[in-house]
Amino acid sequence: MNKISNFNAKTWDQWSQEDFVWTVPLSAEKYAQAKERETELILTPMKKAPLWWFEGLGKRVLGLASGGGQQGPELTAHGYEVTILDMSTRQLQADALVARREGYPIDLVKADMTNPFPFADASFDFIVHPVANCYVEDIEHVWREAFRVLRPGGALMSGWTNPIMYMVDEEAFYSDEVPLEIKHALPYNSRHEEQKGLEITTGSGYQFSHTLDTQIGGQLRAGFQLKDFYEDNEEDNRLGQYCSLYAATLAVKPQ
Ligand SMILES: C[S@@+](CC[C@H](N)C(=O)[O-])C[C@H]1O[C@@H](n2cnc3c(N)ncnc32)[C@H](O)[C@@H]1O
Repeated sequence: MNKISNFNAKTWDQWSQEDFVWTVPLSAEKYAQAKERETELILTPMKKAPLWWFEGLGKRVLGLASGGGQQGPELTAHGYEVTILDMSTRQLQADALVARREGYPIDLVKADMTNPFPFADASFDFIVHPVANCYVEDIEHVWREAFRVLRPGGALMSGWTNPIMYMVDEEAFYSDEVPLEIKHALPYNSRHEEQKGLEITTGSGYQFSHTLDTQIGGQLRAGFQLKDFYEDNEEDNRLGQYCSLYAATLAVKPQ
């Protein structure tokens, strides 16, 4: 793992110890409820991905940077064969915990998505990629690898942050005491900020805002056709009073 991924893996391990919301696995009660209702896939904080995005595509699913025991159990409860790729040991342990508790098989792969994905071409029917590419500097590599490991006709469902979030210091999102001011030019890049003297801590890890060109254009350049899109927001985030803070895309690998 490179220096940035290594540090971010430690960051996610720490957030998991602190029970950060995106590290808390599905409870036994919620898993039982999930089996009785339609599949609820979360790519961004609040909205659910439309069922037509993935239903009928097939059963082989890759949860890309999707540890934490959330998407994995939800999909397994609905009969999907799930592989979770994540680089955080604790995030994978959360999936292992639910799988053991509920008695289902799951393929857990500790890997860094900045490297070639450890899967053969055309291994999956669809990929679920919740917000995570803000921890990776080169997302065009991720789009290309996702394209490669999908079968023709397969789909990539990705959540990502509105780059505008990175114009403002994160502390201002949740505290009235920090002014919501434009502080950073885009694209924001923690590695460049570090070179200018910022200390990167496990409070935030290394993050990258990206551009719409790399988020949307990058998927098109990888060969995908974009089929749908929605915006989402985050409860209690002060910046969210002014604009949507998250987006999700449905990208299909042509037949
Ligand atoms: C916001 S969580 C997404 C999964 C979570 N279940 C959810 O619904 O939000 C981001 C995940 O991306 C993983 N991640 C970040 N950078 C990664 C990388 N380079 N390779 C693999 N996983 C990565 C983190 O370990 C973390 O589990």
